[in-house]
Amino acid sequence: MSNSPLNIPIEKIPRHVAMIMDGNGRWAISRGLPRLAGHKAGTENLRRVIRASVEFGVKYLTIYAFSTENWGRPPEEVQGLMYILQDVIDKELGELNKEGVQLRHIGRLERLDPRIQQKVLKAIDLTKNNDKLILNVAFNYGGRDEIVCAIQKLMNEGIRAEDVTDELVSKYMFTVGVPDPDLIIRTSGELRVSNFLIWQAAYSEWYITPTFWPDFDREEYGRALEDFANRDRRYGKI
Ligand code: FPP
Repeated sequence: MSNSPLNIPIEKIPRHVAMIMDGNGRWAISRGLPRLAGHKAGTENLRRVIRASVEFGVKYLTIYAFSTENWGRPPEEVQGLMYILQDVIDKELGELNKEGVQLRHIGRLERLDPRIQQKVLKAIDLTKNNDKLILNVAFNYGGRDEIVCAIQKLMNEGIRAEDVTDELVSKYMFTVGVPDPDLIIRTSGELRVSNFLIWQAAYSEWYITPTFWPDFDREEYGRALEDFANRDRRYGKI
């Protein structure tokens, strides 16, 4: 039985898809455009991918928008990405809210400009009761930083070493309450994890495509989900 527009039984649709939206810069450079034009095109594509996620029946989508390492980029690119985050909230929030998308943030919000923090918190509050799609925006996010933060919280709360379990650690991650990603998609062909969801990705399936993020369209997203549906997930067993 299939009630997704894809030829996949609904139980084979990944509940949680995470995406490393890589290749914006190369997409732009290959067209003789500035790198920020690539991030703008990437933002347009993100809108399409969010809609396709709802259409395909994906329940959680996590996107890697700005890593803790991205601060090392030229200041105009960092500023541009900060601006894009605010612009997306200003221009898209109303529509996303109408479509039932719940926005969440993972990463160090407190290290962003206070105006950005306010906007993000308002967006989270406005959409908190939506349940069509949970959209986790990883912004100023790093997997190691997340683990460091979790250890600090555990220690500050005086948790005893013998009480530390896999489940407990998960509750101290930014992704608390979100199931681990079933599928992680990385565009633009790099074969690395780049500090993304390193705790949560223990048993995630990967789909890596040479396509640059701005060109990763609904068709290819559908192919990635079909590919995932044919995987045999064994979780270390046989
Ligand atoms: C990686 O491509 C992409 C990023 C660091 C930013 C991703 C951001 C977007 C798609 C815009 C949407 C953002 C928000 C805030 C919702 P790259 O620049 O590393 O590409 P390259 O490897 O080709 O240089």
